[in-house]
Amino acid sequence: MQNFSIGIIGAGHMGLALASGLASRMAPDRIAVSDPHADKRQRVHDLGISAMADNDSVVARADLLVLAVKPQAMRDLCAAIAPRVRERRPLVVSVAAGIRGADIARWLEGGPAIIRAMPNTPALINAGVSVLWANDEATPTQREAAATVLGAVSQVFWLADEALMDAATAISGSGPAYFFLMVEALAAAGAMLGLPPDLSAALAAGTAAGAGRMVHDHPGEAALLRARVTSPGGTTERAIKSLLGEGFMEMFGRAAQAACDRSRELGEQLGAA
Ligand SMILES: NC(=O)c1ccc[n+]([C@@H]2O[C@H](COP(=O)([O-])OP(=O)(O)OC[C@H]3O[C@@H](n4cnc5c(N)ncnc54)[C@H](OP(=O)(O)O)[C@@H]3O)[C@@H](O)[C@H]2O)c1
Repeated sequence: MQNFSIGIIGAGHMGLALASGLASRMAPDRIAVSDPHADKRQRVHDLGISAMADNDSVVARADLLVLAVKPQAMRDLCAAIAPRVRERRPLVVSVAAGIRGADIARWLEGGPAIIRAMPNTPALINAGVSVLWANDEATPTQREAAATVLGAVSQVFWLADEALMDAATAISGSGPAYFFLMVEALAAAGAMLGLPPDLSAALAAGTAAGAGRMVHDHPGEAALLRARVTSPGGTTERAIKSLLGEGFMEMFGRAAQAACDRSRELGEQLGAA
């Protein structure tokens, strides 16, 4: 990793988060970032990392190249940088939702090593979760390097089957929004019960943060944590019964399926473009 040079194309939310996470873990002169916007390049400069408007200069010095632009911009970007990528042959790491490895490889031409990564929004505060998949051209060393890059801002999990990236997108990629929605719903319920709205919002947010930390410290034990705070005949039990009776579990299943279908659809639409 210390010997890798990293290029990041796109200094938006995710590109900047990755640059920021990496800046404290490796020599900043081994990282370069490109973005068309001067204000975003300035934020990269503020991290001590060089930023430029020209993508080719970033590709030219990268052993590992992160593509951190919107999925809709991926095809044009790949077509524009393809000649330099074929010369330099970096590992290409795409964080673009939905866009399949085979489509990226086709747009770049020349059989590049590609790793797809699906990080999530908490990566912006170094608390993300990322799911990674590698094509057959990626070497073990390159896989390790990609895990280190995403590991700078998130926990890293690997998938062997690319088709499951859509499911992972539905769970961890879109997941933070589900929890934000639950906080909104809980805050609204508190206000409905008569709490001042600001207080209710603070109680809901603080509760989510505390419960999130407990789940983080005991992964896979959410049901046990819930059982511990659900005394028979108590208030929590009454609320949980109401939620389950309203089809809470099935509702989540349907929501995740809808997100998974949309991810697949986006991959098909944008990949065919
Ligand atoms: N944000 C998240 O939490 C999150 C989570 C998981 C995955 N992702 C993925 O991460 C990728 C980036 O998302 P984001 O939220 O960081 O987007 P963003 O904030 O819009 O950042 C993308 C940046 O790349 C720039 N850009 C566009 N085309 C470019 C090109 N050809 N060359 C250089 N720079 C270019 C954009 O400029 P313009 O604004 O002018 O286009 C923008 O400054 C997406 O594919 C998304 O699916 C994001």
